[in-house]
Amino acid sequence: MIIKSAIPRVFTATQSGSSQGDAAATVARPDFAAVPSYGKLQLATRYLLSPLAGFTTLPFRRIVRRLGGVGLATTDLVNARALLSRNEKTMQMVETHPEDRPFAVQIFGSEPSIMAEAAQLLVELGVDTIDINMGCPVNRIAGAGAGAGMMCNTDSTLNLARTVVEAVPVPVSVKMRLGWDASTLTAPFFAAEFEKLGVAAVAIHGRTREQGFSGSVCLDGIRSVVEAVERIPIIGNGDVRSVADAAEMLRVTKCHGVSLGRAALANPWIFRQLQQWEQTGSWTPSGSFDERLQLMLEQYGYLESRLGARTAIVQFRKMAHWYLKGMRVRKRLRGQFQEVTTRQEMESMLKQIQQEGPVDGNRTGVLTDVQVAVPRGPVDKW
Ligand SMILES: Cc1cc2nc3c(=O)[nH]c(=O)nc-3n(C[C@H](O)[C@H](O)[C@H](O)COP(=O)(O)O)c2cc1C
Repeated sequence: MIIKSAIPRVFTATQSGSSQGDAAATVARPDFAAVPSYGKLQLATRYLLSPLAGFTTLPFRRIVRRLGGVGLATTDLVNARALLSRNEKTMQMVETHPEDRPFAVQIFGSEPSIMAEAAQLLVELGVDTIDINMGCPVNRIAGAGAGAGMMCNTDSTLNLARTVVEAVPVPVSVKMRLGWDASTLTAPFFAAEFEKLGVAAVAIHGRTREQGFSGSVCLDGIRSVVEAVERIPIIGNGDVRSVADAAEMLRVTKCHGVSLGRAALANPWIFRQLQQWEQTGSWTPSGSFDERLQLMLEQYGYLESRLGARTAIVQFRKMAHWYLKGMRVRKRLRGQFQEVTTRQEMESMLKQIQQEGPVDGNRTGVLTDVQVAVPRGPVDKW
């Protein structure tokens, strides 16, 4: 079936438990495994930011890093070939900052030599670790034998991973799905083989390619990947929206770390809350509506320092619209925000938005029903 365009679906921030940071809620802590290290790279926490193309940009990564609790953040998926041609947009995607550490770049491609050369270039640029994308369901990528398509080809996939691992001195990880479909759950096999050839960690989104983003993650499937390896960390991923969800992921799968994508957009304080929960059993609340406006200004500021106000304001419009909608800001104010042309105008608009507040009067900084566009099933186009 051809899916003509992404179908926006509501991503509700609170699936279970309290992602709003209700410090009074209690969530039982499992027996935690050691905080993962990727080869010699010891992570500070077991909570990772999952790559979200178009969202996990450097300004956003700096925001979540500053709020605390992030063990590792990865760029959006980057085309290895485009990287080698030093395509301007691609080079922007791999830009980092001293606050953005440890820093991983995720690459995709199907040609071992190109992937290895791209990895070497990234090492020259100073990355701490390199992630191979083996989960992207989009037909343009999976159909060309990259992304989730790699889950169908044993020899070429192992050869590609080995070539990249051998080409660089930094740890190499792989992010994959459970398999192509329910009848080919190849993730445990690949994880075990990857460990043998020197891959340092595996992140696993608990769905198949056929599922796209539909249904819910299969925790037992993630657990079977954990059980397939001897010592490398397995990072569980998918549908974790709250401390309670992370606890469930850790308890059922016995994974060593958890990565969060959409929940970080809804609640960028979630990593700090998870770390607090692990250390003390409770956590501080998420920020308020006003603090969320401050984060927006901060994110804009990072863009402005890189691109100058003129370009940054234009580039920030799309993201700002998305944030303000998720914050339930009145349509009229959202429209006016799109017309600001200077930083001063932006600041005064944010002040006005702060005074008027959200339509339903809830002044939390958590985006309770953010629209993250995901397709309903396997993805021919996205
Ligand atoms: C908009 C969007 C973009 C994504 N981009 C990437 C990507 O570039 N690389 C990748 O490995 N996964 C990507 N993913 C998958 C996520 O990293 C993650 O595996 C998935 O969203 C499930 O985790 P979550 O429920 O915590 O969001 C993307 C997902 C979404 C919704």
